[in-house]
Amino acid sequence: MSVEPFDAVDVIRAKRDGGAVPEDALRWIVDAFTRGYVTDPQMAAFAMAVFLRGMTRDEIRVLTDAMIASGERMSFADLGKPTADKHSTGGVGDKITLPLAPLVACFGVAVPQLSGRGLGHTGGTLDKLESIPGWRASLTNEEMFAQLRDLGPVICAAGTGLAPADKKLYALRDVTGTVEAIPLIASSIMSKKIAEGTSALVLDVKFGSGAFMQDIDRARELARTMVELGTDSGVATTALLTDMNTPLGLTIGNANEVRESVEVLAGGGPADVVELTVALAREMLALAGQPDADVESALRDGRAMDAWRTMIRAQDGDPDAALPVARETHVVTAPASGVVTRMEALPFGIAAWRLGAGRARAQDPVVHAAGIDLHVKPGDTVVAGQPVFTLLADDGARFDRALEALEDAWEVGPEASFVVPGSLVRERITA
Ligand code: URA
Repeated sequence: MSVEPFDAVDVIRAKRDGGAVPEDALRWIVDAFTRGYVTDPQMAAFAMAVFLRGMTRDEIRVLTDAMIASGERMSFADLGKPTADKHSTGGVGDKITLPLAPLVACFGVAVPQLSGRGLGHTGGTLDKLESIPGWRASLTNEEMFAQLRDLGPVICAAGTGLAPADKKLYALRDVTGTVEAIPLIASSIMSKKIAEGTSALVLDVKFGSGAFMQDIDRARELARTMVELGTDSGVATTALLTDMNTPLGLTIGNANEVRESVEVLAGGGPADVVELTVALAREMLALAGQPDADVESALRDGRAMDAWRTMIRAQDGDPDAALPVARETHVVTAPASGVVTRMEALPFGIAAWRLGAGRARAQDPVVHAAGIDLHVKPGDTVVAGQPVFTLLADDGARFDRALEALEDAWEVGPEASFVVPGSLVRERITA
C-alpha cells in the first residue's frame, strides 16, 4: 500500500484556521477524496472550512484544476470551427438554452451545451427537451462530435467522465449546507466547463429571489471569480448579471417551456426571453470572432428555426409532434382591477415543482405537461376576474400545495404602486 503524502486532518485544520492550503495538499485532498481515501465526513468538514474561511484566487484555481484532473478532458480543436458555450446559474422559467444553441449555430459556430436535469425549483434543460416525443439526451462522444461538426448545435447529457470529483463533492455539499460558497460554486461550474473543452464561454449569472444568489453583490463576486478562472485556463469568458426576481417568460415547466422556445425561434415569444436570448447570442458570437452578427435576423427569417428542427431530429426527436398536455388545469384570477405589481420567481418555481414539473430526488421522474402558464407579467393591467395564471398538472390533488406556495407570491395593486424594474441584463463582466 502506498503511503499518502498528507493527512486530511492537517489540511482541514489549515483551512479551518484561515490559512491558505498549499497547492500540493489541495491537489492531494481532491484526488484522495475521489479515490475514496479521504472520507465523506472529512471532505464535508473541509467544504465547511472553505465556506467559512473562503479561498484565495490561487487556491480556487488549483481546486478547479484538481477537479478537472479527476476526469477526462475533451477537446474540440479538430472540429474546424469555433466553439461557444453558455452556462446559466439557474432560474425559474429559464429556457434560454433551447432557442440559443440553434440561433448561435446559424453563424457557423459549434455550440456544445452539455446539460443536466433539474433538482429542486429550477428546471433542467434535458427535462424540458424530453417533452419532445422521441428526443434522446444521451449521445456517445462520437455522436456529439459528429453533430457539432455537421450541424453545429448539440444539447445533450453531460457524460459522467467530466470532473467526477465535482460530482462527488457536489452531492456532499448538497447535504451539508455548503452549496453557497463562492469558491466551491465557481470551481464546480468551471471545472466542468473547462474540462468540456469549449474555446468560449458566456455565463448567465442570475441574482434575485429565484436565483441561487439573491444578492447582486454576491452574484457579481461569483461572476468575477468564474470569469477569472475561465480566462486563466485559456477559455474566452464573459458573464452577464441578469435579474431573476420575476419568472422568465410566460411559462414555467417543461413542455410549455419548449412551446415558448419554439415561439421565440419563430420570431415571436415574450420580450424578456427574446432580450436575453439575443444578448447571450451576441456575447457568444463576439467571443467566437463575430461581434457584428445580425442575431435578430436569424430569428426573423427562419434560419434559427431550421437549425432547431435539424438539431431535434438529429437526436431522434420529432419537432412536429404534439407536446404533452396537462390532464388538469386550475385558473387563478385577479381579485381586483389594477396593475400586476410583482410575481416572485422563487414561489412560482416551487409551485411548478409541486405540480410535478420538477423532482425532489435525482431518481424521480418529472411530469412533462406540469407547470404554470402566466397570462400577464408585472406591469400589465388586469380587470377583476381576469385570468392571471393557470396551474397545469396530471393530478388535481397537487393544486392545493402549489396554491399554498403562491399565497403571497404575487399582487395586483393601484397603477402608482408599480415600480418599473431595472433592465434584465444588469451588468457585463469581462476579464
Ligand atoms: N451548479 C454547479 O454545477 N455547481 C454548483 O456548485 C452550483 C451550481
